[in-house]
Amino acid sequence: MANLESNLAGIKSPNPFWLASAPPTNSGYQVMRAFEAGWGGAVWKTLGTPIVNVTSRFAALDYKQNKMIAMNNIELITDRPLDVNLKEIAECKKAFPERTIIASLMEICEQKAWHELVKRVQEVDIDGFELNFGCPHGMSERGMGSAVGQHPDLIKQVSEWTKEVARVPVIVKLTPNITDIRFGARAASEGGADAVSMINTINSLIGVDLETWNPVPHVDGMSSHGGYCGPAVKPIALNMVNDCARDPEVRIPISGIGGIETWKDAAEFLLLGASNVQVCTAAMHHGFRIVEDMIDGLNNYLDERGLASVQDLVGKSANRITTWENLNLNYKIIARIDQDKCIHCNKCYVACEDAAHQCIDRISNNGSSTLVVDEQECVGCNLCQMVCPVEQCIEMIEIDTGLPPESWKQRSLRLEGVSS
Ligand SMILES: Cc1cc2nc3c(=O)[nH]c(=O)nc-3n(C[C@H](O)[C@H](O)[C@H](O)COP(=O)(O)O)c2cc1C
Ligand code: SF4
Ligand code: SF4
Repeated sequence: MANLESNLAGIKSPNPFWLASAPPTNSGYQVMRAFEAGWGGAVWKTLGTPIVNVTSRFAALDYKQNKMIAMNNIELITDRPLDVNLKEIAECKKAFPERTIIASLMEICEQKAWHELVKRVQEVDIDGFELNFGCPHGMSERGMGSAVGQHPDLIKQVSEWTKEVARVPVIVKLTPNITDIRFGARAASEGGADAVSMINTINSLIGVDLETWNPVPHVDGMSSHGGYCGPAVKPIALNMVNDCARDPEVRIPISGIGGIETWKDAAEFLLLGASNVQVCTAAMHHGFRIVEDMIDGLNNYLDERGLASVQDLVGKSANRITTWENLNLNYKIIARIDQDKCIHCNKCYVACEDAAHQCIDRISNNGSSTLVVDEQECVGCNLCQMVCPVEQCIEMIEIDTGLPPESWKQRSLRLEGVSS
């Protein structure tokens, strides 16, 4: 059995799976049950001055037969008094001392207010703080959440204020509602934060009810933009995590969040540079017990690959991402159809004909037709393989071009050399 222990800026957990700050971490009752199920840590629902929520507040994006490929919410931070939350945090930590509890915080941008909140919360036993600079609705209109996360100078300032009094590591949770998330991460690093977490939710409107013309979720016929999360946001989150993992000015570790539902999703975040992961929508959709499969799956994967620990995965693919200009122009693949597996649905033919390079030929043969790729013309775009409903029916094959690797950058320099 591999060692699943994770370490984020010195915060150790028995496994890298934390519940993100959200409804699943609203109360001691829930967090205790989550820990019983096996979660390595929990980031408590954001603490601050209790708010009043609206009903309704969630809406889902379904795609064909798949329920909740994403969700949108207009919920605010905790609506429970601070002393009640702190009492329950203390009870959870006492019952599960080896699990991680992080207190998520939100306050107005004043040094005194942050000092008071940090000091008050760390009177109970917690493993770290997470500063919520990400909530994009409601709280941002009051100058908190993403209103801070969209201004690197404020991120730096509040990180500094928090570090002035915090006795445990400080994680800064960033908003994706910004052109380049690295600016926020650099500011957190400059402000002395110990780690960053990303992503919080993405600004979104999930749709309109075509019967009533009400936007959803609606509150008495009206709505406001909400925060988008769940499986559909994973690629956006992966890119942001990797951008920060490769940035030399972001000198602190990353907790990856966004669309994680399985151990495979988690492993991808780890490979691209996250030190651990947090989960919200998947726990809301399927319940706390999904963590059992996550733990088993990651364990088996590490064992199969002969890896001793989660640390052996962290960042291993991070530097395989580069800018386009560095990719090898002389690497060539082409599509090849396995005639024994083909069910003649023609999906690949239509896709290549209408949207790629018109290089799948339909060869008639005694009333039936065979699909064959013109390998000279194929540009290896992958589209036919993506639309083919039969597993491994279309393989992408590497072709030896006989040419040495050359990137666009290198080619430009070579051509400049020729012309000058
Ligand atoms: C209903 C709901 C409430 C949330 N509340 C908070 C919150 O109080 N504090 C916070 O930092 N993030 C909050 N989030 C954001 C999540 O912690 C997480 O960053 C986001 O949902 C992306 O992860 P996911 O794709 O696994 O859901 C909330 C998300 C949802 C869906
Ligand atoms: S890889 Fe692209 S170009 Fe080649 S056959 Fe498939 S769809 Fe056509
Ligand atoms: S999409 Fe796949 S199964 Fe369908 S015709 Fe093309 S190769 Fe055959």
